[in-house]
Parts: sequence; structure tokens; C-alpha cells
Amino acid sequence: RRPLTRRALLGAAGFGAAAGGGALVAATVRESPAAPSGGARATVPFHGPQQAGILHPRQTHAHLAAFDFGARTDRGRAAALLLRWSTAAQRLTRGEPVGEEISPPGSRAADTGVALGAGPASLTLTFGFGASFFDRVGLAAARPEALAPLPAFPDDRLDPARGDGDLFVQIAADDPLVCLHALRTVQRLAHGEAKTRWVMSGFTTAPVPGRTAPTHRNLMGQLDGTANPSPADAAARDRILVTAPGAPPWLAGGSYVVVRRIRMLLDHWDTLPQEHREQALGRRAADGSPLTGGGEHTAPDLTANRPDGVPVIAHNAHIRLAAPGANGGATMLRRGWSYYDGLRADGTPDAGMLFVAWQSDPRTGFVPVQQRLARGDALGRYLVHEASSLFVVPGGVRPGGYVAQALLE
Ligand code: HEM
Repeated sequence: RRPLTRRALLGAAGFGAAAGGGALVAATVRESPAAPSGGARATVPFHGPQQAGILHPRQTHAHLAAFDFGARTDRGRAAALLLRWSTAAQRLTRGEPVGEEISPPGSRAADTGVALGAGPASLTLTFGFGASFFDRVGLAAARPEALAPLPAFPDDRLDPARGDGDLFVQIAADDPLVCLHALRTVQRLAHGEAKTRWVMSGFTTAPVPGRTAPTHRNLMGQLDGTANPSPADAAARDRILVTAPGAPPWLAGGSYVVVRRIRMLLDHWDTLPQEHREQALGRRAADGSPLTGGGEHTAPDLTANRPDGVPVIAHNAHIRLAAPGANGGATMLRRGWSYYDGLRADGTPDAGMLFVAWQSDPRTGFVPVQQRLARGDALGRYLVHEASSLFVVPGGVRPGGYVAQALLE
């Protein structure tokens, strides 16, 4: 195969050959140092053994987007797009504007300046591929088996236009303008190569100085993320990231992400007695503690019964059915965002959770858990799964390189 060097990619695709240089719009932005001091100035490096945005604590704002390639895309053009995106991600995550040398023809040359001076704000951009990506770039034989389509689940009401896609990007930041600017930049750099298929935007609570707890309240008022595996735990990381020795080099340190748009029937949920809501989950709303007692991080006692013999944590409680012990050890890192998109035609809120779950293999992560939940989760009565996607997320990017370089070059 013809080697796809950085110079060849930027040149061959018709873009200016001045890689590494280019006019940066504003000196003011470069004055914003890449200091990990929190707030606007906090940076999360784009380069590293894993892509950023998987193990890092969830930021306040997120845009999830999928793209489909145009008719002319081949391996080389896909590589050129991923180089443009990776170069932009490196700059944006440092709070720098994107240079004109990576802009495709026909789009605005330099950075639009929309986020000038707003800082990096912990921006992360995380790129993935849908199953169709591998056909589109002529690499069907390289498609991992774990990227097989998710099975259909009972009661799914999926809109195919808001699921899947050739390419995926998760963009997240602690500043809404920085986050949207990054999305708009990614879209602009895809001009002529890939069209946006869908975008979903989410949010969570703002960071509280000094508070490091990774749990956030969702729109049902529950503390979410309590039983997540800790990325600091090596065994758990093996269930989140692809670390198996036989993995192809482009996938090493990567992951699989399931993205589901799950609408909540909030007008109904909000009228339920607190006790009923806590029974459906198996935890207390106030502090996230299990109904069997203790604090948020006390393990639930799934064997405990009330004096009348009824289990304290109901047979159909969400945490009982979703627990690893009920699903062959299935583990995933749930790192989603709430969404609110105004009112539906019937006047109810179009609101819920952008469920984002990371795992080393969806066949032993998300799939068995969702199969069990779909058969009778008490929380499920107040949820509608409206869109679903599965993407493979390649491993980390080295400086000067691009996402999935080892696959595409
Ligand atoms: C636990 C909410 C969908 C898997 C929890 C908890 C909450 C929650 C509040 C308890 C705190 C915690 O450990 O995070 C929700 C809501 C959902 C939803 C509101 C839909 C909008 C799902 C889906 C899956 C899932 C689709 C996977 C298929 C889990 C797992 C746990 C959990 C694995 C931890 C169980 C344990 O080990 O205790 N969920 N969840 N959840 N959820 Fe969900």
C-alpha cells in the first residue's frame, strides 16, 4: 500500500502544503497557558496512550455527533480527514485556534474565532468508527468482530436517522461556547468529505471547586455513576479499554462506545411518590445510598429481606438487574449526559439521558445488561430508547500523528 505520510495527506487532498505552520488568528489565545488549574484554563491533552474523553471525569457540556462519508471517500481521503481532525483537536484542546492550512477547500480558511479567549476548558474530542466505516474505506477485513450490530431489544423505539454512522465524535468541555466551537470546527473540517448524520447535545452539573466525586444527578433526580468501575483500578481498566495482547495496534488502548438516546417520561415520573421512585432504582434519592443502608458507596445487600420476606431491593430494581453479578460480570463505564430539547408535539418534555457506555467488548458489556434490563427493569417503565449506536474507538494518538494511523497508513 502507498504510505500515507502527513505531507502526502495534506497535499494529496488538495490542501495547502504548509503543514505545521499557518496563520493563527489571535495572539490573545496563545496567551492562555495550558495550565491544569481548573476552570477555563484546565487542559486535557489530546495525545496519550488512550484518546481523551474516556477515563477523564465527565465535563459539563457535550455534543455527540456522527458523520457519513461522501461518495468519493477512500482510505487516503479518510486518513486526510482524520489528520485534519486530529490536528485541530490538538490545537483546540490547548485553547489555540485552528490554522488555515488544515481547512478543506471551499470552507472558511481560518478559525472562526468564536471561542477566542474562552480557554481550553477541559475540552476533549474522542473519535470513533461505525461498522460501515470499514466498508467505506475498503478495509472490511479489518472490522473487529466486536463491532457486530447490537441485537434488537424489546421495546426499543429506535430512529435509524439518529443512530450509527461512519464516523463518531464525542466533544465535551466545561464551557458551552468552547464545546460548540469545537463541534462547528470538526464539521467545517469535514466539508466535502463527510456530512453530519446526527448531533445530540447534553449537559450535567457544573464542576464544584474541590469536589472530585464523579457522580452527577440525572433528570430523574438520581445520583448517577456511583457503581461505575474506577479507571484507577487496573482490572477495571481492562474491562473498559482494549488491552488484550492480540488486539491490532490501531485498537490497542481503544474502546467500544454504546450511545443511546433514552427519553425519560418525566411528567409521569415526577408525580410518583418518592418511595416508588427509590424502589424502582434500589437507591435513595437524597444521597444515592442503597435501600439496604450505609452511604453512597456502601455495597447494596441484594439478599436482605424485610420482615414480611419481601426483598428490600426489589427483584426488578434497576441496580439489581444491572449489577455485574447478574450479568456474567458485565462491566462498563457509564459516562453520559442529560439532554433537554424543548417540548414534543404532545407537550411533554423531550428530555432524558444521552447514555454513553465504554467497554472493551460490547458483547460482554452493554449487551447482556441491556438484555436483562429490557426484560423487566422497574425504571424502564419510565424510559423510551429512541436512538442507538455502537462505535469502535481507536487507541491514543501520538504527537504529529492521527486517529487510527496504524490502520489507515
Ligand atoms: C446504575 C440510572 C440506563 C446500566 C444506575 C444508577 C442509576 C441509574 C441512578 C445507580 C447509581 C449508579 O451506580 O450509577 C439510569 C437511568 C437510565 C439508565 C436514568 C436511563 C435513562 C442504563 C442502561 C444500562 C445501565 C441502558 C446498561 C445497559 C447500569 C449499571 C449500573 C447502573 C451497570 C450499576 C449497577 C450496580 O452495579 O449497582 N443507573 N440507568 N443503566 N446502571 Fe443505569
